[in-house]
Amino acid sequence: MGVRDSPWAALTVAWLFLQAQVLHSQEHLLCNSSDSKALLDLMSNFESPIEGWELNANANCCNWLGVVCDSTSSLGLSDDPSSSGRVVELVLASKMHAGNLSDSIGKLDQLRFLNLSHNLLESTLPESLLHLPNLQVLDLSHNEFSGPVPKSANLPSLRFFNISENSFSGSLPVWLCANSTLIQVLNLAANYFSDVIPPGLGNCGSLQNLSLATNNLTGGISEDIFTLGQLVQLSLQENSFSGPLGSGIGNLTELIRLDISANEFSGSIPDAFQNMKKLQFFIAQTNGFAGFIPSSLSNLPSLKFLNLNNNSLTGTIVVNCSAMSSLVSLDLGSNNFRGPFPEDLPNCQKLQSVNLARNKFTTPIPQSFRNFSSLAYLSISNSSLSNVSSALGILQHCSNLTVLVLTLNYFDEELPGDASLSFPKLKVLIMANSRLRGSMPQWLRGCTRLQLLDLSWNRLGGTIPSWIGDFQSLFYLDLQMNSFVGEIPKEITGLPALIHRNMSIMEPSDFPFFWKKNKTSGVLQYAQFTSFPSTVDLGGNSLNGSIWPEFGNLKDVRIFVLSNSFLSGSIPDNLSEMTDLETQSVLQQSVREFSVAYNNLSGPVPRGGQFSTFPNSSFEGNNLCRDHAPPCPTSQSQPGLTSHGDDNSGSVDHAMSDINLGMTIGLAFGMAIGIALGTTRTGDLCLHAIIRFCDRVKLCY
Ligand SMILES: *[C@@H]1O[C@H](CO)[C@@H](O)[C@H](O)[C@H]1NC(C)=O
Ligand SMILES: *[C@@H]1O[C@H](CO)[C@@H](O)[C@H](O)[C@H]1NC(C)=O
Ligand SMILES: *[C@@H]1O[C@H](CO)[C@@H](O)[C@H](O)[C@H]1NC(C)=O
Ligand SMILES: *[C@@H]1O[C@H](CO)[C@@H](O)[C@H](O)[C@H]1NC(C)=O
Ligand SMILES: *[C@@H]1O[C@H](CO)[C@@H](O)[C@H](O)[C@H]1NC(C)=O
Ligand SMILES: *[C@@H]1O[C@H](CO)[C@@H](O)[C@H](O)[C@H]1NC(C)=O
Ligand SMILES: *[C@@H]1O[C@H](CO)[C@@H](O)[C@H](O)[C@H]1NC(C)=O
Ligand SMILES: *[C@@H]1O[C@H](CO)[C@@H](O)[C@H](O)[C@H]1NC(C)=O
Ligand SMILES: *[C@@H]1O[C@H](CO)[C@@H](O)[C@H](O)[C@H]1NC(C)=O
Ligand SMILES: *[C@@H]1O[C@H](CO)[C@@H](O)[C@H](O)[C@H]1NC(C)=O
Ligand SMILES: *[C@@H]1O[C@H](CO)[C@@H](O)[C@H](O)[C@H]1NC(C)=O
Ligand SMILES: *[C@@H]1O[C@H](CO)[C@@H](O)[C@H](O)[C@H]1NC(C)=O
Repeated sequence: MGVRDSPWAALTVAWLFLQAQVLHSQEHLLCNSSDSKALLDLMSNFESPIEGWELNANANCCNWLGVVCDSTSSLGLSDDPSSSGRVVELVLASKMHAGNLSDSIGKLDQLRFLNLSHNLLESTLPESLLHLPNLQVLDLSHNEFSGPVPKSANLPSLRFFNISENSFSGSLPVWLCANSTLIQVLNLAANYFSDVIPPGLGNCGSLQNLSLATNNLTGGISEDIFTLGQLVQLSLQENSFSGPLGSGIGNLTELIRLDISANEFSGSIPDAFQNMKKLQFFIAQTNGFAGFIPSSLSNLPSLKFLNLNNNSLTGTIVVNCSAMSSLVSLDLGSNNFRGPFPEDLPNCQKLQSVNLARNKFTTPIPQSFRNFSSLAYLSISNSSLSNVSSALGILQHCSNLTVLVLTLNYFDEELPGDASLSFPKLKVLIMANSRLRGSMPQWLRGCTRLQLLDLSWNRLGGTIPSWIGDFQSLFYLDLQMNSFVGEIPKEITGLPALIHRNMSIMEPSDFPFFWKKNKTSGVLQYAQFTSFPSTVDLGGNSLNGSIWPEFGNLKDVRIFVLSNSFLSGSIPDNLSEMTDLETQSVLQQSVREFSVAYNNLSGPVPRGGQFSTFPNSSFEGNNLCRDHAPPCPTSQSQPGLTSHGDDNSGSVDHAMSDINLGMTIGLAFGMAIGIALGTTRTGDLCLHAIIRFCDRVKLCY
C-alpha cells in the first residue's frame, strides 16, 4: 500500500484542485446515463471493480472516484442547469488496474482529461479513443498496452499525449500530427516502435517536448524535426538512429535539452550551435561521432551539461571557459582526444564534475588546477598520465575535491606517502590497476571523510596500518592484489560504516563515473558510488595471521574477500553473524560474495547464517571441510586454534599464491574472467569483468 499511497495523495490533491473548478455545478449534476453505461462497460473490462464506483447504471457517476463531470449547460449543450452532467475528466492512475481498455471509452465524447497511467492495462488501443473531439490530455504511460497505434486519429483538441513505457510496436504514430496540430507534449518513449521516422511530425508545429527515447527506431532524424521551432526538449536516446546529425538541429533555437545518446550517429558533430542560445543539456554519449568538438559547442554560454563520452572524437580538448560560464558538468571520457591536458578548465567558474578518462594526454595535470576551487568530481583514469607526485601535489589545492579517480595511470611509479599532502573533503579515492609502489600513504589519514577507497591491483607493500580503522564513514575498502604483509589490522573489524551503514552520510551526486549493469534491463548504466555494496576485499596479498572473529561484527558487509593470502587458523564461527543479513539489508541489491579461498585455513566451515549458501569455491585451496565432506582432520580442535593441516595442502596454497595474478584472481572470481584480467589489465577488460560479474561492482574508471 505504502508505495501507492504517495502518488495517490499527490494525485488526489491535483484532482481536488481540478474538481474545484467544476464543483459548483457538479454538486447538482446528475450523470448522463449514456456516460454511466460507458464507464461501467469500461470497468467490466478491468479485471477487478473500481473502488468507489457502483455497479448500477442509475447511480450518479459524477460522484464516483476519479470522475469529474461538467454540466451540459456550461458545455453549451443544454439550457437546463439541473439536467445532465457529462464526464470531462477520468483519472484512474496508479491503481494497479489490470485488464483491457474497452472501445466504449469513445462514448465519453466530452472527455478532456484521461489519466490511466501506472496501471497494468494490456489491450491494444481502441480506435475510438483516438477520435475524442474534446480530449486535451491523454496519459496512458506505464501500462502494458501493445500492438500498433491505430492509423486513423482525429484528436483536434489534443495538447498532451503520453503513452511511454508500454509495449507498443509498429511504425511511430506520427500521423497523430495530421489532426492534432496543437499538441505540445508527445511522449512515445520506452516502447518497441521500429523503422525510420515516417514523414508527418512537421505538422505538430506547437510541439515543445518530444520524446522518442528507448525504442527501436532507425535511419536518420527526419528533417521534419528540424522544423519544430518551439521544441524545448528533444529526447532521441537509446534507439538505433544512424548517419550524421544534420546541421538543421541548429534551427531548434528554443531547445533547452537535447539527448541523442546511445544511438549510432556518426560523422562530425555539426558546427551549428551558435543560435541555440538556450541549450543547457547536450547529451550525446555512446555514438560514433568523430572529428573535433565544434567551436559553436565549445563556446556555448548557456550549456550546463555536456556529455560526449564514448565516441571517437579526436584533436586536443578545447573548451573556452571564458565563454562557457554556465558549465557544471563535462564528460569527454572514452574518446580519442590526444594532446596537452586542458589547462583552461579551472576558468570555468561553475565546473564541478569533470570526466576525461580514457583519452591520451601528453602533458601531466597542469599547475592551473591548483586554483580549480569549484572542482568536486574528477576522473582521469586510463589517460597516459605520469608523475603521480606532482598530480597529488596540485590536486590537493582543489579545495572542493570530493571524488578522485586516477586508475590505470602512473604505471610503476611510487605513490607518495608524504603526510603533508592533504585532501580534507575527499570521500572517494580510486587509484587502482597502476602497479603503484610504496606503502599505504600517510596522507590518507587526513582524509577523515573517506567513504570509498580502492587501491587494488597495485604493488603496495608493508603492513596495512591500524589507522585504517579510524575512517568513520568508510564502507568500501578494496586493497586486493597488492603485496601487503603482516596481520590484518583488527581495527578494520571496528569500521562503523561496515557495522551499520549510515545512508544519511551519503549525499547522492550525479557523478557518472561508475558502470553497473542493471539487472532488470540488462543495460550498463551509471551508478552512484553510494549505491555500491559494502565491501572489504583484501584478497591476493601476502597477509598472514588469522581471521579475526570480530569480523562477525561487520553486519552490513556485502562483499568479504580474504582469498589468496597466507591466512591460517580456522574460520571463526562468528563470521556467520556477518552474513546473517537476509532481513536487515540496508541496500536494495542482494549482493553477497564471500571468499577465503587459497589460504592456509583449516577446520570446519561454520554452518550458521548464509554459510551454507556459499559455493565450495569460496573455501577451496585450504584444508577446510564442509558439511558433507569427509571427516575433518581437525574437527576436534577448537575454533580459532591454528591448525597446520597436512604439508601437501600447505604447499599447494603457496604455489597458488605464486601463480600469476590472473590465475589467482581467476580462482577467486571465476576462471574465465580472471585469466582475461591477468593477461592484459586494461580498462576494457575491466569493463568486461563488470558485465560478467554484474553483481560485483568493479571500479574501472
Ligand atoms: C497521471 O497520474 C500520474 C500518477 O498519479 C501522475 O504522475 C501524472 O502526472 C498524471 N498525468 C498527468 C498528465 O497529469
Ligand atoms: C447524454 O449524452 C448524449 C450524448 O452522448 C445525449 O444525446 C443525451 O441527450 C444525453 N442525455 C441526457 C439525459 O442529457
Ligand atoms: C482482454 O482481451 C483479451 C483478448 O480479447 C481477452 O483474452 C482477455 O480476456 C481480456 N481481458 C479482460 C480482463 O477482459
Ligand atoms: C510520461 O510518462 C512517464 C511515465 O509515467 C513519465 O516518466 C514522464 O514524465 C511523462 N512524460 C511527460 C512529458 O510528462
Ligand atoms: C483526420 O481527421 C479526418 C476527419 O475525421 C480524417 O478523415 C482523417 O483520416 C484524419 N487523419 C488521420 C491521419 O487519421
Ligand atoms: C529491433 O530491431 C532489430 C532489427 O530491426 C530486431 O532484430 C530487434 O529484435 C528489435 N528489437 C525489439 C526489441 O523489437
Ligand atoms: C519540457 O521540457 C522542459 C525542458 O527540459 C522541462 O523543463 C519541462 O518540464 C518539460 N515539460 C513536460 C510537460 O514534460
Ligand atoms: C533552418 O532555418 C533556415 C532559416 O530559417 C531555413 O532556411 C532552413 O531550411 C532550415 N533548415 C531545416 C533543416 O529546417
Ligand atoms: C560505448 O559505445 C559502444 C558502441 O559505440 C557500445 O557498444 C558500448 O556499450 C559503449 N560503452 C558503454 C560503457 O556504454
Ligand atoms: C573564447 O570566448 C571569449 C568570450 O566569449 C571570446 O572572446 C574568445 O574569442 C573565445 N576564444 C576562442 C578561441 O574561441
Ligand atoms: C564548494 O562546495 C560547496 C558545498 O558543496 C559549495 O557551496 C561551494 O560553492 C563550492 N565552492 C566553489 C568554489 O564552487
Ligand atoms: C533498471 O532498469 C529498469 C528498467 O529500465 C528501471 O526501472 C530501474 O529503475 C533500473 N534500476 C536501477 C537500479 O536504476
